[in-house]
Amino acid sequence: MGFISSNNLCRSLASLVVSILVLTRCVDGRFVVEKNAIRVIHPPSMSFEQHDGAIANFGVPNYGGSMVGSIVYPDAGALGCSAFDGDQPFKSKDHLPTILLLARGECYFALKAWNAQQAGAAAVLVVDSVDEPLITMDAPEETSDAGDYVEKITIPSALIERSFGESLRAVLKKGDDVVLKLDWSESMPHPDARVEYELWINSNDECGPRCDEQMDFVKNFKGHAQILEKGGYTQFTPHYITWPCPKPFIKSSQCLSQCINNGRYCAPDPEQEFGVGYDGKDVVFENLRHICVHRVANESNRSWVWWDYVTDFHVRCSMKAKNYHKACAEDVMKSLGLNIHLGPPDLPMDKIKKCMGDPEADVENEVLKMEQDSQVGRGTRGYVTILPTLVVNNVQYRGKLERTAVLKALCAGFKETTEPRLCLTADLETNECLERNGGCWMDPISDVSACQDTFRGRVCECPSVNGVQYNGDGYTWCEGMYSPDSP
Ligand SMILES: *[C@@H]1O[C@H](CO)[C@@H](O)[C@H](O)[C@H]1NC(C)=O
Ligand SMILES: *[C@@H]1O[C@H](CO)[C@@H](O)[C@H](O)[C@H]1NC(C)=O
Repeated sequence: MGFISSNNLCRSLASLVVSILVLTRCVDGRFVVEKNAIRVIHPPSMSFEQHDGAIANFGVPNYGGSMVGSIVYPDAGALGCSAFDGDQPFKSKDHLPTILLLARGECYFALKAWNAQQAGAAAVLVVDSVDEPLITMDAPEETSDAGDYVEKITIPSALIERSFGESLRAVLKKGDDVVLKLDWSESMPHPDARVEYELWINSNDECGPRCDEQMDFVKNFKGHAQILEKGGYTQFTPHYITWPCPKPFIKSSQCLSQCINNGRYCAPDPEQEFGVGYDGKDVVFENLRHICVHRVANESNRSWVWWDYVTDFHVRCSMKAKNYHKACAEDVMKSLGLNIHLGPPDLPMDKIKKCMGDPEADVENEVLKMEQDSQVGRGTRGYVTILPTLVVNNVQYRGKLERTAVLKALCAGFKETTEPRLCLTADLETNECLERNGGCWMDPISDVSACQDTFRGRVCECPSVNGVQYNGDGYTWCEGMYSPDSP
């Protein structure tokens, strides 16, 4: 099946099979480009200029934080399509990390970022080759010949406008230094002490690398997700995409096998072959159960049980492993206590059955109807078209779907100082204090330092040590004041 991107083509497609299978690409949706700010710090002739960078859909954007670095434009291989010569030629030699400037074209965006990372760059800016509004640099399609480098990219990348890129190059050509600040602190709204986030996924694990990616993420993120949910720090909602069967085809064999509730809710056949293995309608029905598990668990204030259900379901009832059947799903629910916590007549199991309704009935299912409605973008988020998609505080997450990268984005969604402890743990710290004490104040005798690593990057704040509160600007001076009752 080819790649079809034209909306009109999608609407006029007569073939139902085709239209259902390519629907992931066929919604005439708004696509929102998420951005970070880029400020010129040097040279003075350009300083205070502020520009946008479009955050790439791979690598790890530094949500909530910022990075100051000096720009390097490689003399050779500015497209970044092949490995750079030498041993990490762009590894920072002086104090500032290197932001590599590369030209758009000739190879995948992600390959440029990978080559830059291998060569020691701390971030990549790709200069657009045409004058146009910024676009999101996507990871290569899973069917492409891209190697396994995409998931190994850990540096942030952004696309910048051609005109901005050219003025940067002009300064470099004159031999002047360019220092930029990449700033993601406003890339994620952080209005209050609770983060709302949504994950759009699929219960079917038989769709290749995208499905593996989503399952790996759920498995690896579960621990974090449950801590955040139990602590009341987050409100998580899982979502599942379904499509309606076009009216004239409701009685066709394709829609009969891919849809429930008389063509109202459909999903593609897992093997893309009708009558073999599981059908699309099995997937829709199981997606519905996943949603209902979350709903019912949420009602009894155990919303995090969804993460257990999904991971256990994957182990015990995988469609890919041909282990799926209804009884299997019900066993998983039972083992998670989804049927024992409340006594009759309020059995959660019954509640889940009630929530799922009768898939054969010619009626709307309230839950799936709501899912279809929320697929359409609201406010600042675009139409959800690809799976898996993560939305945090109603902003579509960019970057790779990986535990630490996602946690960083969630942490950036809390109002400052309200973030949970999990956000301040070691694997989120940036270790900027290790180098030159992060540029913060330090007492040369006692080594008392004002530098603190946080996920937002280092902060210079006069510390409190053994009951002594230091006061000062944190950068150039701090002074210890003994309080009268200190030891
Ligand atoms: C989960 O429960 C909370 C209240 O405890 C509610 O506000 C929220 O809408 C519920 N979420 C879902 C998806 O039902
Ligand atoms: C769940 O929590 C909400 C708010 O904290 C509370 O009003 C409700 O009674 C709780 N429900 C159950 C079943 O414990």
